[in-house]
Amino acid sequence: MCGIIGYTGYGDASEIITSGLHLLEYRGYDSAGMTICTDSGLMTVKTEGRVSELEKKVKSKQFKNAFCGIGHTRWATHGEPSEKNAHPHGTGNVMLVHNGIIENCAELRQMLKKHGYRFDSDTDTQAAAYMLDLEYKEEKDSIKAIADLIKHLKGSYAFGIIFADEPDTIYSVKKDSPLLIGIGENENFIASDISAFINHTKKYIRLCDGEIARITKSDIEVYGTGGKRLFKDIETADIGAVELEKKGFEHYMLKEIYEQPEAVRKTIRFLSNGNMPDTRYFKDIEVFHITACGTAMHAGLIGKYFIENFARVPVYTELAGEFRYKNPILSKNDIVALISQSGETADTLAALRLVNSRNIKTLSIVNTDGSAIARESDNVIYTKAGTEIAVASTKAFTVQVAAMLLTALKTAEAKEKMTKGEADSIIGYIYNNIERSLLSVFHSDTIEKASEIISARHDVFFIGRGYDNYLGMEGSLKLKEISYIHSEAYAAGELKHGTISLIEKGTPVIAIATDELYYDKIKNNIEEVKSRGGYIISVCPENAEKIKEVSDTAILIPNDDKPLRPFSAAAAIQLLAYHTAKKLGKDIDKPRNLAKSVTVE
Ligand code: G6P
Repeated sequence: MCGIIGYTGYGDASEIITSGLHLLEYRGYDSAGMTICTDSGLMTVKTEGRVSELEKKVKSKQFKNAFCGIGHTRWATHGEPSEKNAHPHGTGNVMLVHNGIIENCAELRQMLKKHGYRFDSDTDTQAAAYMLDLEYKEEKDSIKAIADLIKHLKGSYAFGIIFADEPDTIYSVKKDSPLLIGIGENENFIASDISAFINHTKKYIRLCDGEIARITKSDIEVYGTGGKRLFKDIETADIGAVELEKKGFEHYMLKEIYEQPEAVRKTIRFLSNGNMPDTRYFKDIEVFHITACGTAMHAGLIGKYFIENFARVPVYTELAGEFRYKNPILSKNDIVALISQSGETADTLAALRLVNSRNIKTLSIVNTDGSAIARESDNVIYTKAGTEIAVASTKAFTVQVAAMLLTALKTAEAKEKMTKGEADSIIGYIYNNIERSLLSVFHSDTIEKASEIISARHDVFFIGRGYDNYLGMEGSLKLKEISYIHSEAYAAGELKHGTISLIEKGTPVIAIATDELYYDKIKNNIEEVKSRGGYIISVCPENAEKIKEVSDTAILIPNDDKPLRPFSAAAAIQLLAYHTAKKLGKDIDKPRNLAKSVTVE
């Protein structure tokens, strides 16, 4: 979390940094700031709130000849979101921006106070900035001071640093947080993510842990441990300029929900063209483990359902934040699948590193080319959602579900539980019909009506069986994320074991019932809720008479063959959350407290 950008060159640094920060805002947006080097020295501007607020402040300053600078958009870890806690932090000698957490900041603060430093922020970052100042005063050498700084730090960091003595130069160093150096013509960049400089250059260098970079407009030097000069590979990003157009949609989230048919088709096309491991890879697998965080975990749970159902291979699932600390039981014919949109989630990356250290096969399902998780896995299945700007994930989720289905079918073929023809016909059916199926959900008018009922309540429950249980978890997460309505998801049979005590007259219970296998059972669970006053909103196929007759409101999805139902039901629950948040006037694309990419554990 937190987005960093730095620029040095002939362009207007304040403008370039502002536009980069807009592109990085998905990483956090509770406060922002920048330090700009101008002919009159280093100028720092900070604000609580969004980059747009910072932009106004920066414009009002009318910097003249702003040739270099560093900027930051923050997701608070230490200290509330406020102007004083916004980055950059530092002194008259040095200013820095930081992404990560300095775990030993309390000890550093104590020690620095003894050296006369006074802290006016609650951040961990200020301790790092003062430590660097102290080292620089002693060393009078930027690279040596940075090398000494990192010896004092515990935790994770990516820093962008400017010394007042070298106002056209950006320094950078990282550990366990991403940092790229963009290479332009007579201008260079640093950023947490390619998107921040992709409108200027596609060429970049990836900084590795412990390496220190010195960047001017015409030169990039990278030093390894011990001060040895390194000559790093230059990579070329294969993404286009980031689309910031909403294309007539009121919110990015709605646009991205509507992009799902194309994203799923693109993913299927890409993976079916030889871009995923073939059946030989899955032949000897005895156990699957799936680990991820948030929405990606819900796709993983649906993947578990697919793999167990189609391939009859057992699947263990565990949230990455738990998996990494639990000393997981892994055997040589196991495989660990890691799912991540960003490819940089700290817990998922740590889980991957743990598995790698045990020499067990790893397969990542990732949406971001060249991300840490993709690079460090034995094998990658790339999903093709494109850039997702809304913080609440939608199209990235459905493509993960599609990738899990393809993985399950390949495994089923490998295990001779299915022929290639059977697997192809399922995939072909989805490919050919997803657009029609989702369009009918997009045009449903019951979703908005149901959202009116939900928006008037404080508590909502989701129930489902089989993969619908996992879709319920995702629906519940979407609702919480963007509408701030409390919501919980339960396996339909489980609600009665305690939670049903919370059902009172009018409590909305969203029953996802798309699998006829379970109609009779979930109908009973619906009756249990109804008899306690619950208001049933079901999500079910048009011909699910048994479910419709016990529902107060039914959101209907097409009767399409089963494989499409998880996709159309996903679109329905995403739209339900969207319309509820819209009715409540919430900030749909940038919900409070959240960040899209979580690089701290
Ligand atoms: C954050 C995001 C979620 C996302 C999760 C995992 O919490 O807000 O939308 O599902 O991280 O992210 P990943 O990039 O690993 O899929």
